Amino acid sequence: MTHLSIQNLSAGYGDVRVLYDVSFDVPIPGITAVIGSNGAGKTTLLRTLSGLIRPTKGEIQLGGTRLHGLEPDGFVTAGIAHVPEGRRLFAGMTVEDNLLIGAFSRQAPKAEISRDLEAVYSLFPKLHERRRQDAISMSGGEQQMCAIGRGMMAKPRVMMIDELSLGLAPVMVDVLIAALKQLAGNGLGLLVVEQDVAVAFDLADQVVIVDRGRVTRAGTSQEVAADPAIRNAYLGEI
Ligand SMILES: Nc1ncnc2c1ncn2[C@@H]1O[C@H](COP(=O)(O)OP(=O)(O)O)[C@@H](O)[C@H]1O
Ligand SMILES: [Mg+2]
Repeated sequence: MTHLSIQNLSAGYGDVRVLYDVSFDVPIPGITAVIGSNGAGKTTLLRTLSGLIRPTKGEIQLGGTRLHGLEPDGFVTAGIAHVPEGRRLFAGMTVEDNLLIGAFSRQAPKAEISRDLEAVYSLFPKLHERRRQDAISMSGGEQQMCAIGRGMMAKPRVMMIDELSLGLAPVMVDVLIAALKQLAGNGLGLLVVEQDVAVAFDLADQVVIVDRGRVTRAGTSQEVAADPAIRNAYLGEI
C-alpha cells in the first residue's frame, strides 16, 4: 500500500509555532480523519501538506517521493488536492466552470477532461442538474460537493478536505460520507478534517487526534472509538 507519509513535521506562522513533531501516515486508498478542537492546528496541517506553508522541520513524502520544499503547484502535480475550509468556489461562475478549474493544472486532452467531468456528475447527480447555475447560489452541501468535484478534477492521489461537515444539514453529510467512501473504494487516499467526532468515526478507517499542535492519538477508528478516555473527552460520555 502507498502512503502520504508525514514525519516529525513542525510548522507555523513567522515566529509562532503551531505544529510540533507531527508524524502519521495516510494510507492510499483509505480515509483518515483528523479531529481536534478549535485552534489545534488542523488547518495549518493541511496548509503545510499542500505546500502553502513551509515546514520548519520534518518530511512529507508521497509514495516515497519527497514533497517538502516544493511550491504549492508541485504538491498539486504530485497528486495532492486541497479542498479548503469554506470551499472557496468562484462566485459569478457556473458549477461546471468551477469544476473545470480543478483540471487546469493537468495537460489532459479534452475527451479525458469530459470523461472526468462525467465521473463527478455520476458521483453527484445534483451537480449535473445545476451545472449551468452560479456555484455560489447553491446550498452549502451542494457547494461542498462542487468543491470535492473540483478536487477530483485534478485527478489526485490524496484529497484533503478541511471541515467536511461544518454547517451542513445531516442528510447532506450522509450523502458526502457515502461519496467519499466510494472514492476511497476507487483508490483515493482521503485526509479529512472533521470536528464532528461521530461523523469522523463513521467516515474514517483511521483517526488522528491533534491537540495543541501535537498528535496525541492515532489508530483505527474502532480502536480509538472504543477507548473510554476518548469517549469521555470527545463524545461527551462518562
Ligand atoms: N495566518 C495566521 N497567522 C498567525 N497565526 C495563525 C494564522 N492562522 C492560524 N493561526 C494560529 O494557529 C493556531 C492553529 O490554527 P488552525 O490551524 O487554524 O487551527 P484549527 O484549524 O485546528 O482550528 C491558532 O492558534 C491560530 O490562532
Ligand atoms: Mg481549521
